[in-house]
Amino acid sequence: MTGQQFFRPTGKSVWRGKDLAQSKDWTVSLSALALDEIERDLRRAQARGVTLDTMKRDDFPLTALQDELKAIFAEVKEGRGFALVKGLSTERYSEDELALIYWGIGSHFGVGMPQSFLGDRLGHIRDVSDEEPDPLRRRGYHSGGAQTTHADSCDILSMLSLRQAKSGGASRLVSIHAVHNMMLDTCPELLAVMYRGFFTRMPDSDAEAAGRNPLSGERRPSFVARDGELACFHGGPYIQRAIEAGDIVLNPEEAAALAVFTAYSNHPDLCLDMLLKPGDMQFVKNRTVFHGRAHFDDYPEKDRRRHLLRLWLSVPSWPNLDPRKDSEVEKLNWEKFAKKQAVAAE
Ligand SMILES: [Fe+2]
Repeated sequence: MTGQQFFRPTGKSVWRGKDLAQSKDWTVSLSALALDEIERDLRRAQARGVTLDTMKRDDFPLTALQDELKAIFAEVKEGRGFALVKGLSTERYSEDELALIYWGIGSHFGVGMPQSFLGDRLGHIRDVSDEEPDPLRRRGYHSGGAQTTHADSCDILSMLSLRQAKSGGASRLVSIHAVHNMMLDTCPELLAVMYRGFFTRMPDSDAEAAGRNPLSGERRPSFVARDGELACFHGGPYIQRAIEAGDIVLNPEEAAALAVFTAYSNHPDLCLDMLLKPGDMQFVKNRTVFHGRAHFDDYPEKDRRRHLLRLWLSVPSWPNLDPRKDSEVEKLNWEKFAKKQAVAAE
């Protein structure tokens, strides 16, 4: 007995990749009508001088797509926690146009958020480790290789594929509700450790721009259960950074809990791999589905390398269960910091 009150999620959000790989009913193909509507909205936004910095939902109304968008949002919010949307052409549009389209579609699901101290609104996921060789300064999404599954810092995480790697690089998703229930069945005492949480450390550059101490002032629960909902905010790399900086030392039970969580959340039976082809957009409920990627071999030329745009959305209507209650304020501070830096550099 652990004394911990657990919440066992049930229903569609508890899935195994092995089962979902049998069907593709988590894929939505945009109709010709929808693609025409996207084209019209793009041209109208361009004619009115709308930019990525100024675009609001009304600038990209997507009137004829409302039923499709509602179905995608419902699947992300209350279904399996993700959807793959296909059909957008990356050949028809420039990278800037694709960015506008992507931001416009995203604005129907939530509010786009800056992604780092650079204030970048759309992250470019691409291996540029040759240009940023210092791994301590380099962002994770500017590195190559496989990634273990993890959460980002948003309500809905989205990626739009622009180019595939030479080989490999499948996007990997896992239901954290399934991982939670496996831990509940096999090692509830270690799951209780996850509910209690860990101290975490953010990158110094992000902390400085956000105007806060990099080390969290308290333990941050990896799982939060409230109002009939179970959310996961486990920040593995942030815990690891605190260990490496000498801020914390894990006790054996904490080390075991992390090891089991990592093993389950990367287990091939639980993970679902999908290769994102150019134009494919993935929308993921960040609090219940973790993401990572398989190993890949890339091209040496930068303009041929695997490249995805990343969008972080905040959904104001969703309950704020994040133990880092100030995380949105932090992101807005990043944007202010980046603008100040840009002005100073002029
Ligand atoms: Fe990520």
